[in-house]
Amino acid sequence: MSIVVTGATGHLGRLVVTHLLADGVPADSIVAAGRRTETLADLAERGVRVATLDYGQPETSAAALEGAETVLLVSGSEVGQRVDQHRAVIEAAKAAGVRRLVYTSAPKADTSPLVLAPEHKATEEILRASGLTFTILRNGWYTENYVGDVQRAAETGEIVGAYGDGRVASAPRDDFAAAAAVVLRTEGHDDAVYELSGDEAWGFDELAAAASEVLGRPVTYRTVSSEQRAADLAAAGLDEGTVGFVVALEENTRDGLLAETPGDLSRLIGRPTTPLVDALRSALAQA
Ligand SMILES: NC(=O)c1ccc[n+]([C@@H]2O[C@H](COP(=O)([O-])OP(=O)(O)OC[C@H]3O[C@@H](n4cnc5c(N)ncnc54)[C@H](OP(=O)(O)O)[C@@H]3O)[C@@H](O)[C@H]2O)c1
Repeated sequence: MSIVVTGATGHLGRLVVTHLLADGVPADSIVAAGRRTETLADLAERGVRVATLDYGQPETSAAALEGAETVLLVSGSEVGQRVDQHRAVIEAAKAAGVRRLVYTSAPKADTSPLVLAPEHKATEEILRASGLTFTILRNGWYTENYVGDVQRAAETGEIVGAYGDGRVASAPRDDFAAAAAVVLRTEGHDDAVYELSGDEAWGFDELAAAASEVLGRPVTYRTVSSEQRAADLAAAGLDEGTVGFVVALEENTRDGLLAETPGDLSRLIGRPTTPLVDALRSALAQA
């Protein structure tokens, strides 16, 4: 019986495998699954089993999930294709007799107007209808999402966006991964839905202050209208689709859709979530 982690070639999946190992789960009962399995050689050297699993090729899911007791389905990154891809993995898990499937979703995916919510909502519905026992990890925003803003601020002294007075309860990927590992290796999470976020929501003035501290130079936050932001991004060379997506996300942030702090994440990991400054410092060191 094993724990399969899909998307193990990505940032979050790899961190989940690392946490499972650090938590004492035997390496040979962990399967790190993904497309680019050559990037998993170091985990294989530690005794972790490695399997090819491409969400777009159901036969790979069937093979990778054979004998699995618990599966973490890390939501894919190919926006627009994810519902069909996730459905294929869920169906393969059902056919393989998996006991519980854990899925990484988005904040309040079932009701949120967040631009990214519909594919997560659809996946949650497929999972509920599958009859599998599930756990839904509604992951909030990664602090790492702002590393690019901070790197630009190192040059410009500014963080710019259509975020207005919006606040973000972010946490680093490692905190979300630690929570996923707990949920995978312990009981008591059947059919549970967790709203995972950082303990404290910060505003963009605070992000600028954190950037100042980490960079050792003054940084300020400048909010702009959605129209101005769209024009600036287009002038910087982004295509129309990307501009629309970025501006919609910034508007969602302005509207407080990423700001809730129910405390599920710190409760699961048994410690406070990593503060903004610490998470930024560590992410910049690795960037
Ligand atoms: N909460 C947030 O702030 C936030 C931000 C960004 C993304 N996300 C979501 O959280 C997920 C994990 O985040 P991350 O930071 O680990 O992202 P990431 O580093 O981009 O990793 C994405 C993982 O999904 C895998 N994947 C994508 N399409 C696949 C397919 N068709 N078949 C098999 N594997 C596929 C990738 O495999 P390859 O290595 O083969 O490409 C990779 O392992 C993302 O995929 C996305 O759904 C959340």
